[in-house]
Amino acid sequence: MNVLGIESSCDETAAAVVGPGGVLADVIHTQEVHAAFGGVVPELASRAHVEKIGSVVRAALDRAGVERPGAVAATAGPGLIGAVLVGLSCAKGLAAAWGVPFVGINHLEGHLLSPLLEDPAPSWPFLALVVSGGHTAVYLCQALGDYQALGETRDDAAGEAFDKVSRLLDLGYPGGPAIERLATGGDPEAIAFPRPLPGPLDLSFSGLKTAVRTRVLAHDDHPADVCASFQAAVVDCLCTRVEQAAERTGVGRVILAGGVAANGALRHRMQQLGLDVFLPPRSRCTDNGAMIAHAGRLRLLAGHRDPLSLRARPGWALA
Ligand code: KG4
Ligand code: ZN
Repeated sequence: MNVLGIESSCDETAAAVVGPGGVLADVIHTQEVHAAFGGVVPELASRAHVEKIGSVVRAALDRAGVERPGAVAATAGPGLIGAVLVGLSCAKGLAAAWGVPFVGINHLEGHLLSPLLEDPAPSWPFLALVVSGGHTAVYLCQALGDYQALGETRDDAAGEAFDKVSRLLDLGYPGGPAIERLATGGDPEAIAFPRPLPGPLDLSFSGLKTAVRTRVLAHDDHPADVCASFQAAVVDCLCTRVEQAAERTGVGRVILAGGVAANGALRHRMQQLGLDVFLPPRSRCTDNGAMIAHAGRLRLLAGHRDPLSLRARPGWALA
């Protein structure tokens, strides 16, 4: 079965077709309107999705050579409500017009299942570190839909911390790629930023962000050193938690997903932990339609269907 997947929860308008053999087409349009504001402006995001959704879906179907897919999946949350509604409504309309099944997908589950699109794919159970702009958590994943949060951030998400530090250093939005680029020329040990590890397996990044601000205001460090040292602190915290989760659960298979999983320093360190690590390619870490089509396909094959009355869930927790 070919599944059309639509993603519009934040600032990417994306559509993809995934079939039994893998990804047939994956079209992503990243909104540029937000760059001037240093972050995503919700209402502008909704309007830009409305403008682009038709051509992005059309392009995905054309590239896949598919006229009418066997089913349609769309992100139903979490995300910006107006943005989610655009892709979700489009998906429902297409499913109704084509007379095919529809399924609403949790955006985080889309990220979490994206390493299963790769070869080799991890087998269940596995640990998942989902690190995006809005969420950061470690899950124990036993089967499709069976996810237990072992620890999560108590304040900022890891990606949010990258974005905030980037704004502080005037590096633009999104912050992650900008910081990673500049960090390449910096010394990760130049500044000893804190590595807060609250509670049993939780994370926290707002103190780290404040430490960077305090440091930048008081010292004249090279920005490359600030970036490298900040990035090293984030990577340390995430790797420590993954190691501890593996020890605690006895599960040594780990997948990484979400925008921050595109970070080279994080990918490198994760692969040195002595665990069995599965990484999606960088382009599949940030928001895309393939992960939604793929998650939708797995759920549909497991017998899952949603009614066209399904509502958007802006604050939908995964576990
Ligand atoms: O998964 P994603 O595309 O959207 C959400 O679901 O939030 O993640 C976006 C986040 C942003 O905060 C962005 O700064 C961060 O992922 N990011 C990165 C990198 N690429 C994107 N963070 C660190 N290093 C990167 N290379
Ligand atoms: Zn995402």
